[in-house]
Amino acid sequence: MFENLTAQPADKILALMQAYREDPRADKVDLGVGVYKDASGNTPVMRAIKTAEQQLWEAQTTKAYTGLAGAPEFADAMIDLVLGTSVERGRIAAAATPGGTGAVRQAMELIKWMNPEATIWVSNPTWPNHLSIIKYVGLNLREYRYFDKDTRAVDFDGMSEDLKQAKPGDVVLLHGCCHNPTGANITTAEWAEVISILQETGATPMIDIAYQGFGDGLEEDAAGVRMVASEMPETLIAASCSKNFGVYRERTGILMAISANAAATKLTQGSLNYLNRQNFSFPPDHGARLVSMILTDDALRADWQAELEEVRLGMLGLRTQLADELKRLTNSDRFNFIAEHRGMFSQIGTTPELVEKMRADSGIYMVSDSRLNIAGLNDKTVPVLAKAIVDAGV
Ligand code: LMR
Repeated sequence: MFENLTAQPADKILALMQAYREDPRADKVDLGVGVYKDASGNTPVMRAIKTAEQQLWEAQTTKAYTGLAGAPEFADAMIDLVLGTSVERGRIAAAATPGGTGAVRQAMELIKWMNPEATIWVSNPTWPNHLSIIKYVGLNLREYRYFDKDTRAVDFDGMSEDLKQAKPGDVVLLHGCCHNPTGANITTAEWAEVISILQETGATPMIDIAYQGFGDGLEEDAAGVRMVASEMPETLIAASCSKNFGVYRERTGILMAISANAAATKLTQGSLNYLNRQNFSFPPDHGARLVSMILTDDALRADWQAELEEVRLGMLGLRTQLADELKRLTNSDRFNFIAEHRGMFSQIGTTPELVEKMRADSGIYMVSDSRLNIAGLNDKTVPVLAKAIVDAGV
């Protein structure tokens, strides 16, 4: 039977991780996968996570199953973190998932169940795994214009024009903040405009928020999600704790489904539980428990927020350094967009050939769509990257 298998396409981000590992050059620079790294290239366990792990080790008396939706305190804490008080708790169904990717997958299965004919509208470009999961689940896919390759900012006119073609029953997938891969984000006024379009078309929003706290701050990064959730009758939200809590391998995420009323919420909650049961039964608990401990303990939360803020400001500093260095080398402002972008990524808007050239000539590893992970840089590698960009003729 196994001879019936065919080779699957490699995920370009994961393939790049492998190529980087295999490169023997000592001065290679990894700007690929979206994992935070400090100035020495390490991905540290956050202080509050370490403390919570110690406390958990002392206090935990059982590893028996949680609920199908995970521990209720995790859902409550994450709803509070992402949504604040923007939506009544009685309208929100939620289930813990293996990472934010798990939440995206469960959401797509839920959509397929509710409307097998739904078209999912995704930004062009978007995270490659969005496309892959949507196709795998068998839903229709359409792209809306998003990134203007000349200005390296959002092409909001193109985006609105395309989204106006969505139909009732379609789903519009938006990035809550820190757009992956571009780093270009819509403004508060543009979020309001997107909400009007959603209301006119009858399409349902789904928001993937994987980098809350990496852009303009924890509250600021959730502002768009909260606006949508408070104004739309129904919203799906996939949230990840991988990056902002640094618990990548613990697979910690959550799917929230906001429906119009309590009766619909009850039905949705049952459906989320059922979907978890079919796909993996109980969701992973360790990371989720650490997250809920941190979010509900004043001291742990303060320490986590302080460290997250250091991470965020560090990335902003690297953005400014890189933009300044490119300004110095090119005698122009054309790379200022790097300082304007937010989050872990910037798409510099060049061809796969030039990305390949930077890899071959200078050992710079960025994704072929020219996305670079800002957190992969440090004081020493900023000038190396800037020079490689200029030498390659970007
Ligand atoms: C990324 O975009 O690099 C991250 O979200 C990691 C991944 O799984 O692709």
